[in-house]
Amino acid sequence: MRTSSIATTLLLWAGAVFAKQCSYRDEPQILAHTGTPVGTEIVVENSTFYVSETKCKKPKIGVLYLTDAFGIQFVNNKLLADSFARAGYLTVAPDMFNNDPAPFDLATPGFNATEWTLRHNPTAIHPILAKAVAYLRSKNHVTKVAVAGYCFGGRYSFRMLAAGLGVDVGFSAHPSLLEDGEILAVQGPISLAAAEIDAMMPPARKSAIEAMLASQVAQPYQVSLYGGTAHGFAVRANISDPEQKFGKEAAFYQAVRWFDAWAGGAL
Ligand SMILES: *[C@@H]1O[C@H](CO)[C@@H](O)[C@H](O)[C@H]1NC(C)=O
Ligand SMILES: *[C@@H]1O[C@H](CO)[C@@H](O)[C@H](O)[C@H]1NC(C)=O
Ligand SMILES: *[C@@H]1O[C@H](CO)[C@@H](O)[C@H](O)[C@H]1NC(C)=O
Repeated sequence: MRTSSIATTLLLWAGAVFAKQCSYRDEPQILAHTGTPVGTEIVVENSTFYVSETKCKKPKIGVLYLTDAFGIQFVNNKLLADSFARAGYLTVAPDMFNNDPAPFDLATPGFNATEWTLRHNPTAIHPILAKAVAYLRSKNHVTKVAVAGYCFGGRYSFRMLAAGLGVDVGFSAHPSLLEDGEILAVQGPISLAAAEIDAMMPPARKSAIEAMLASQVAQPYQVSLYGGTAHGFAVRANISDPEQKFGKEAAFYQAVRWFDAWAGGAL
């Protein structure tokens, strides 16, 4: 135990030192709330990926960014993917919905949320995510893949940490539709950001998830609750509201610190 905690300390220290060489966290505006996205869209085997390159020459960590139901079409998702790139990771956000994101107003005539959710099921989505992981892994310098998922995508942070999917570490913000089996199957460190008000993860559900992580999952984990926030805050916070702004920023740095700690100083 003692040896391993010394090893962990050294790993974290090495992480901090190496991270310094090749990340741009001291730059202002690393986390952009507004502005113009800087990444590009590419098509790989019929799937569109929003790719945001880092200034880091040969980033060792690739980030698989999984959007909320509004998809890569929603500018906030692109800006957040760009923010991960500025933190030093090659970042890829696949179009999980094949150009069929949910509308902002779920009451839009003709939109049936049940039908939409049934259409975009795990069987439809996993092949797209597998292509994105393969894309990241095809870069020789990428040795670790981290997943950052939000709302709809937050569930897939857990799913992608199951054995054999090529993902090493995960962060999930206010996941929707997350099931027990998906939590129990994780094979890598998992960090969770929770909103105070969230019908998808109300307090009793959050406690149950914490209990599962504590006693039934043999992986490092973290759960952080952000006061004054609601479902979606890590992507769609009202940044005029100081608590929401803090929550969004802290959740972003929660993910970054988690990836650096558990992807072993690999930047
Ligand atoms: C891409 O889509 C076309 C048209 O639907 C299909 O014929 C082709 O097999 C697809 N390719 C891949 C790699 O999925
Ligand atoms: C929405 O889709 C579900 C599943 O296909 C269906 O059962 C339901 O009737 C639909 N609702 C409306 C309002 O069309
Ligand atoms: C955002 O927060 C500010 C400050 O609390 C508030 O005045 C404003 O109405 C909020 N905007 C929305 C769209 O909720």
